[in-house]
Amino acid sequence: MTDTTSNKMWGGRFAAGPDAIMEAINASISFDKRMAAQDIEGSRAHAAMLAATGIITDSDAEAIREGLLTILSEIEGGTFEFSAALEDIHMNVEARLKELIGAPAGRLHTGRSRNDQVATDFKLWTRDQFDAFDAGLVALIHALLAQAEAGADWVMPGFTHLQTAQPVTWGHHMLAYVEMFGRDLSRVRDARKRMNESPLGAAALAGTSFPIDRDMTAQALGFDRPCANSLDAVSDRDFALDFLSCASICAMHLSRFAEELVIWSSAQFRFVALSDRFSTGSSIMPQKKNPDAAELIRAKIGRIFGANTALMMVMKGLPLTYSKDMQEDKEQVFDAADNLMLALAAMEGMVRDMTGQRDNLAAAAGSGFSTATDLADWLVRVLGLPFRDAHHVTGTLVGMAEKAGCDLPDLTLEQMQSVHGGITHGVFDVLGVENSVNSRMSYGGTAPAQVRVQIERWKDILA
Ligand code: ARG
Repeated sequence: MTDTTSNKMWGGRFAAGPDAIMEAINASISFDKRMAAQDIEGSRAHAAMLAATGIITDSDAEAIREGLLTILSEIEGGTFEFSAALEDIHMNVEARLKELIGAPAGRLHTGRSRNDQVATDFKLWTRDQFDAFDAGLVALIHALLAQAEAGADWVMPGFTHLQTAQPVTWGHHMLAYVEMFGRDLSRVRDARKRMNESPLGAAALAGTSFPIDRDMTAQALGFDRPCANSLDAVSDRDFALDFLSCASICAMHLSRFAEELVIWSSAQFRFVALSDRFSTGSSIMPQKKNPDAAELIRAKIGRIFGANTALMMVMKGLPLTYSKDMQEDKEQVFDAADNLMLALAAMEGMVRDMTGQRDNLAAAAGSGFSTATDLADWLVRVLGLPFRDAHHVTGTLVGMAEKAGCDLPDLTLEQMQSVHGGITHGVFDVLGVENSVNSRMSYGGTAPAQVRVQIERWKDILA
C-alpha cells in the first residue's frame, strides 16, 4: 500500500508520499536488514563518539545506546517490524529509536549521513565474510593436507589434455589444490588488510563541520584507520569487488576440483569413492551413487562469477560520489558469500570423507605408456643419446608395444634392442611407476619425499 504522507525521515520538502512502484524500486529493507547488527554497531560507535567530543550530551548518548540495544534484541528475537515505507535498515532502526526514546534519537544522525553509514555497515558485513572465507579455506587446506599425507606415495596417472601423461602421486595431486587454495588465502588476507579503513565520518560526501573524532569510531569498529578521502569513502565499493574477485578465483578452483571428483568417481575411472554423506542415489537406477555435491559446487560457481560481473557493471559508469545505483551492491555480495561458504564447506566435507582407490589409481598409473618419458630420460642418461633421438627411439618402442597389445615394461630386452642395440637390462629399473615417481626428486616434483617436504611447509605456514 502506498503511504500518502511524505517520508518521515526525509520528507520535509515533499507534499506527498511515493508511488507504490517508487517504493518498490527504492526500498532495500528486504535485503539490507541482513546488516542490522552492523548498523547498530556503527550507530553505537558514532553516538559514543558524539558524546566524547561534546557534540551531544552524555545522557542523550546513554538513551541512544540503550535504545539501540533494545532494537538489537527486538531484531534478534524476531519481533522487530520492518517497514518498506522506511526504505532501508538505517531508517528503520532510527525510526524505531525515535519511538523508543523520543527526541534524543534525532541527534544520532549529527555529523553523519546514510552515505557513510551504509558504506560502514556494508564494510563491516563484508569484513566478517572475509574472515569466514579465510576460515573456510584453512579448513579445506587442512582436509587436503590430510589426504596428501595419507597418500603421499600412492601412484596415479598425471594428465595433460586429460590423456595419461606421467605417473604422479596422490599426495602431489592434493598438494596442487593446496597451492591453489593457498593463493586464495593470501588474496583474502591481502584484501582484508586493504579494506579495513573506516568510512564513518565522511558524512554525505564532504566531511562535516562538527568536531568529530574519526579515529575514535574507526578504532571502536575495529578498523585500522579512517578512510583518508571523504569523497572516496562514500563512493568506494572496491572492498566488495575485492571480495567478489577473491571469491570468483576461489570458486574457479573449487569448480575445477569438483569436475575432477565427478570424473574420478565415475565407473570408468573409479579413482575415488565419495562418502554416502556427500552423494545421492537415483530414484530409478538402484545402482547409482551420484556426486551431487561436486556437481552443485561446479554449478553454483556461476552465481559467484555473475555477482562479480554485475557489481562491476553497476560501478563502472558512476561519477563521484554516491549514487543510488550502489544500493544494488548488497544482494550480489550476499548471494555470492552464501554460495561460496556453502561450496567451501561442502568441498571440505567431501575431501575429508572421500577414499582414494589406491589399487585402481596404481593400475591406471601404469597404463597408457606413462613411463615413456622415463625411458627416454634413461636413454639420454645411460646411453648418452641426444634427447630428440631418445624421444624418437622411445616413440618407436611405444608403437611396438601398442601393436603387441602390451605395456612398455612387458617388451622383451631383445625387442628393445631391435630398436636400439645399446639398451641393457637396467632400463627395466626405470619403467615401473614407483621408480618413475621416486626419481622425480626435483623441488616441487612428484616424488613422495618431495611431497612430504611440501606437506611440512604448509603445516608450518598454517600453524
Ligand atoms: N539504502 C541505501 C543504500 O543501500 C542507503 C544510502 C542511501 N543514501 C542516499 N543518499 N539516498 O545505498
